[in-house]
Amino acid sequence: MEHLQRIESLRAEIARHDALYYKQAQPEISDQAYDLLKRELAELEEQSGELPGLYDSPTQVVGDDRLDGFVSCRHRRRMMSLDNTYSEADLRAFAARVEKLFDSFSPCFVVEPKLDGVAVSLTFEKGRFIRAVTRGNGVEGDDITTNLSHLEEIHQQLPDAPDWLEIRGEIYMTYAEFERINREREQANLPRYANPRNLAAGTVKLLDPREARARKLCISLYGIGYCEPAQFFHSQMEVHQKLKQWQLPVPEPVREVRGVDSVWQAINELDALRKDFPYPTDGAVVKLNDFKLQQEAGETAKSPRWAIAYKFEAERAETLLRAISVQVGRTGVLTPVAILDPVPLSGTMVARATLHNEDEIRRKDIRPGDTVRLQKAGEIIPQILSVCLDKRPIGSQPFDFAAHLQALGLEAERVPGEAVWRLRSQNTADQIGRRIEHFASRVAMDIDGFGPAIVQQLVAHQLLSNVADLYRLQKADLLGLDKIAEKSANNLLAAIEASKQAEPWRLLFGLGIPHVGARTAKELLREFHTIETVSEADEETLEKVEGVGSILAQSIHTYFREPENVELLTQLRQAGLNFGSGMPGSQRLSGPLLGKSLVLTGTLPTLTRDQATGMIEAAGGRVISSVSAKTDYVLAGASAGSKLAKAEKLGIAIIDEAHFRALLGFPAQ
Ligand code: IVH
Repeated sequence: MEHLQRIESLRAEIARHDALYYKQAQPEISDQAYDLLKRELAELEEQSGELPGLYDSPTQVVGDDRLDGFVSCRHRRRMMSLDNTYSEADLRAFAARVEKLFDSFSPCFVVEPKLDGVAVSLTFEKGRFIRAVTRGNGVEGDDITTNLSHLEEIHQQLPDAPDWLEIRGEIYMTYAEFERINREREQANLPRYANPRNLAAGTVKLLDPREARARKLCISLYGIGYCEPAQFFHSQMEVHQKLKQWQLPVPEPVREVRGVDSVWQAINELDALRKDFPYPTDGAVVKLNDFKLQQEAGETAKSPRWAIAYKFEAERAETLLRAISVQVGRTGVLTPVAILDPVPLSGTMVARATLHNEDEIRRKDIRPGDTVRLQKAGEIIPQILSVCLDKRPIGSQPFDFAAHLQALGLEAERVPGEAVWRLRSQNTADQIGRRIEHFASRVAMDIDGFGPAIVQQLVAHQLLSNVADLYRLQKADLLGLDKIAEKSANNLLAAIEASKQAEPWRLLFGLGIPHVGARTAKELLREFHTIETVSEADEETLEKVEGVGSILAQSIHTYFREPENVELLTQLRQAGLNFGSGMPGSQRLSGPLLGKSLVLTGTLPTLTRDQATGMIEAAGGRVISSVSAKTDYVLAGASAGSKLAKAEKLGIAIIDEAHFRALLGFPAQ
């Protein structure tokens, strides 16, 4: 019974991770952690015999990458997955099992790099390239031909080719291209992609081929899925050589070896070499060379018995932990983050690592000033494995997370029964009132007559919930208050209107960013000229400003990355407040939606109209009200009406919230 419950919950959990990995290209856990879950499920299923739901359990079917918006296409032969292992013993057991099938001789194996990207199948008819399709659910996948149309390596015509050919391979991205795109995103204030695999997977699934073309993808072809006539190829090595002859890219180096020891040696040699490869590899694939023998070995429900992937252990490194900073999440959860001396690891420079929570810091006794061992498991988020105690500086003290939060000016509490600290609610009427009073006060926006008595009443009547609401107030709202006659209502509205012209430092100060006083606000604007530029600056750049230390820099940086604040600033910009340099409402000069026009229609599942507008503008795009031939996308939610119909008629790309988030590289909800 206990088993059954665990099986159910593992199946659900793995299905969720499959969707994150294959459909959204946004995995939350490392490949290693995922493989462990799968292994546990496979073992439990094996112990439990025939169980309901086994047929479509994640252990029996391949993850499905198909998305709405793409045309599905059937593979002539199923695209399978590979069994994988991290252990030498398993690898040896695999080779021994295969060798036993052919007890009179020792067959040849081919060992080649396992590229870390997305699987693809290229179809050639009489040598002419006709389409590229993702693995999908193994039986049918998404047609991604247009998104790969700029890959010169995919030749349009192969000489002396069989009548029908499905070549299987991997689309991947180099570390250099990955870094280039992430640098661009940082400049546009967008979150970085976690690793080249996710970015490659996200790119092949972009709905706009023009955007896909702006990112350089690579392809490597490692096998034949289907061939007519079937006798065209006889072995893996022959395939490899023929692909090379056709000048198609293949995984290299490929080794042909006999005997388990030689297989193991080839794997280790490859592991040493791959560290210098300019693209990610996560293992070695070992395949029986001879196709006849492959056929004899057969296959399981989702993978061949003639091949295995040996996954390499995640790379490790040591570096100095300079400080512990705190990241404020969407829901107010405070996550400690290690600020590290940058160190190269699995192809990228690592300068930050998550510390998860207070207990994790205590358990591993991690302290600023420590030298720590890092691992980039599956190249997702780097993790700190342990502290090098022999390198701990004398006099170092255990890290006190609670005191640290206090020093940062964060009013937080640790929820009983939870491992996390959260910000205390920012939204009691009292706090809202105090924030608005500060904004309107003489030292900040100087809105004449807007004292605590009026603010409190407006908050109590729910006419004000943030400072942007001030600019939406109507005369009737004010006349409903105590002791406000027509004349004072007019004066108040005039004062609010006049405050739109207030100098930008007043606005920056008025926002109430923790630790930012009037003097700092002035310094920041002297340096950066516009609030926009302040909001885009990274912590290092902020620290160059007179009087801004690391705590202040962090506080400013965090403030401008909170979704609620992004929305608030969008609203203030739309209201016409002065953000500096006389450019209120100015368009951004970069971002994934640069120059794009979007129309919003219907109700989105999680985003408000203002939030979606803020995200579009932050990504360089523009929101327009009606659909025309010039519209690039229609972002449609529930109960979308005539705009949707018009977009369909004009053939304009219609996207839903999930696609929209994917387009911006935001996590799905
Ligand atoms: S052979 C029947 N060879 O690894 C499957 N796969 O689960 C035969 N991959 O996403 C696959 N490099 O796309 C093979 N040299 C290589 C590979 C490779 C990467 C990927 C493949 C699939 C996964 C296998």
